[in-house]
Amino acid sequence: MKRIFSGVQPTGTLTLGNYLGALRHWVHLQEDHDCLYCIVDMHAITVFQDPALFKDQTFEIAATYLACGLDPQKSILFVQSHVPAHAQLGWMLGCKTPMGWLNRMTQFKDKAGKDKEKASLGLYGYPCLQAADILLYQTHLVPVGEDQKQHIELTRDIAQSVNSAYDVDLFTLPDPLINTHAARIMSLRDGTKKMSKSDPSDFSRIHLSDDADLIAQKIRKARTDADPLPGSFDQLEGRAEAKNLVTIYAALANMTLDEVCQEFEGALFSAFKPRLSDLLVATITPIGEKIALLMNDKRELELILLDGAQRANELATTTLKAAEETFGFWTP
Ligand code: TYM
Repeated sequence: MKRIFSGVQPTGTLTLGNYLGALRHWVHLQEDHDCLYCIVDMHAITVFQDPALFKDQTFEIAATYLACGLDPQKSILFVQSHVPAHAQLGWMLGCKTPMGWLNRMTQFKDKAGKDKEKASLGLYGYPCLQAADILLYQTHLVPVGEDQKQHIELTRDIAQSVNSAYDVDLFTLPDPLINTHAARIMSLRDGTKKMSKSDPSDFSRIHLSDDADLIAQKIRKARTDADPLPGSFDQLEGRAEAKNLVTIYAALANMTLDEVCQEFEGALFSAFKPRLSDLLVATITPIGEKIALLMNDKRELELILLDGAQRANELATTTLKAAEETFGFWTP
């Protein structure tokens, strides 16, 4: 069975982008793959996290995993910092990664902004830790949104370079698995920007915890244009916001992009938006309600995460030991 690994940063309530680009896909994969889904808290501290909120954010992601349909009987669900091998292998891989490769990472450029000198070493070296996450479990496939593709390609390069430098088959080479239907969900305010937890405008995104009224309000205010919908998706060229709303509709309704255009051909957004809201409310609000319920029983979440950490630790230790052996560490 193919091994799957993926993760989310516990930096706030997840968005529709995280759900359609990643989590919804993960739920299907757990049926016929050997899956590990991690809450990557060590990645999250590459930017400041308020300690008083951080623990709860970790629990909230665990609750979100379960509410979206991840099943601890089928997948290993765990917190990254509970498995020390991630940090250990992350350091080892950092020693094998040329700075030139890291300099090309667009996520660092975006997050560091203009003031690169003030960005942390952790933010810069982040892709090495991500490579360790993936390679520790001899992962075959990494289901992610389009924005993570570059990191998975780098992981592959690092794995290949270590394997060939030591002339070993230490790491399995992973491939990204990108859900083409919802690879990149865009902001509701600007169709050229990714929908993101960190956008200053709450109206740029739908949160999995938003209630029906808020979802309807956000869709009503979503930026669009005054033209009617055409009969095929190709004809939406140059209309970024319109494309995004049609993409969201298609992903939620399990339709192709052209099928959505055909169904709404000639309609204005004033007619399309209420239908999109209804679909969103039907999908998102039950998840939000489940998250709220699960957050009332942290003990249950704790037990799931502790069990997951134990199972992940066993798998991770095997690869870490092999890596230490390969690098020539003296291991008593
Ligand atoms: P993060 O926490 O930013 O996002 C989690 C997942 O959601 C996807 N995603 C989107 N997909 C489509 N449209 C969007 N607007 C959108 N926004 C987010 C992301 O692509 C991702 O799949 N570096 C990773 C976390 C990570 C990881 C890993 C992932 C750490 N180690 C190992 C895979 C394997 C991140 O910051 O994801």
